[in-house]
Amino acid sequence: MPHRIAVIPGDGIGPEVIAQAVKVIQALGGVELHELPWGADHYLATGQTVPANGYDLLRSFDAILIGALGDPRVPDNRHARDILLGTRFELDLYVNYRPVRLLDARLCPLKDRNPPDVDFVVLRENTEGLYVGIGGRFKAGTVDEIAVQEEINTYKGVHRIIRHAFEVARTRTRRAVCMADKSNAMQEGHALWQRVFREVRADYTDVSTRHLYIDAFDVIVTNNLFGDIITDIGGALQGGLGMAASANLHPGRTSMFEPVHGSAPPLAGRDVANPIGAILSVALMLEALGRVDDAQRIERAVESAVRDDAVTGDIGGKLGTAAAGDAIRTRLA
Ligand code: NAD
Ligand code: IPM
Ligand code: MN
Repeated sequence: MPHRIAVIPGDGIGPEVIAQAVKVIQALGGVELHELPWGADHYLATGQTVPANGYDLLRSFDAILIGALGDPRVPDNRHARDILLGTRFELDLYVNYRPVRLLDARLCPLKDRNPPDVDFVVLRENTEGLYVGIGGRFKAGTVDEIAVQEEINTYKGVHRIIRHAFEVARTRTRRAVCMADKSNAMQEGHALWQRVFREVRADYTDVSTRHLYIDAFDVIVTNNLFGDIITDIGGALQGGLGMAASANLHPGRTSMFEPVHGSAPPLAGRDVANPIGAILSVALMLEALGRVDDAQRIERAVESAVRDDAVTGDIGGKLGTAAAGDAIRTRLA
């Protein structure tokens, strides 16, 4: 039975990079793709962000592949909140898994760093924190305006992401978890993270929990906002945001896969966007679907294209988006 995949190309460079990711999946076969037009164009034309029963529709697929959302014509980003954050929340995709892996020493901005030095994962809590949208404004639009935006940290939410981080650490050779919090300043919410970290750590005596050097990072577990920021920096360590892939997971349920980058409006429609983040997100998807060999084939094809400079300009190549996608597809064999 083929896996049924929902594909949401989205806005800006989303459709261009997703077209390359789709080429790669189709070359491997074994999937049935269903494209959904959700995004800024659809919202501006219909007033609809996610259709009625849209989240149920998503749950009916085996996985979701999404490009990026964000368009200058929708300044309040309403559609992205419903489509992207809404899916993370409604499908309870509490693990945002963002591997940071350097594929080629030439791409790293750090001096004398090689691929084995930059190989860690960030596990970003994906369903609470500052992203829940609880808050309000008082006297809005006046000089007396007060804006409140609450950060939510629940025992259950913090516990499940920290436990997941330790489980991931056990599958890796370095077996080290580093928690990034700000408990010295955020004395309530982040004290909860500290407490839960101590509690969970006691169950994983085979995993070490203090490593601070960049080449010693293995698994970083953190809240929603810090995870967003850390993984943008992680993108830079890999050669730029165009290289970074991610998975929004709820183990055992329909999960969503996306490049870390956004819709990059200035690059849209110019055949310059790097498709590697989107293509490596397909590898994460196939791995989650149990197709580990196919995931590795994609990773090896990407590594080979990078080695041969068959890549886009942001990482020093001369190819356009489509040609860079072809270079990877033809290396799958
Ligand atoms: P961005 O990731 O779109 O761009 C940041 C920088 O990285 C830009 O210089 C861009 O040119 C470069 N870049 C990004 N992707 C690239 C690629 N594939 N190849 C080459 N270069 C690439 O972030 P931004 O400019 O802050 O945001 C633009 C829009 O995207 C906003 O509306 C934002 O809200 C949205 N956004 C969406 C997502 C998402 O859907 N997951 C993620 C981040 C930002
Ligand atoms: C990401 C993005 C989103 C986030 C935005 C578009 C809401 O930056 O997936 O990293 O902050 O989670
Ligand atoms: Mn981000």
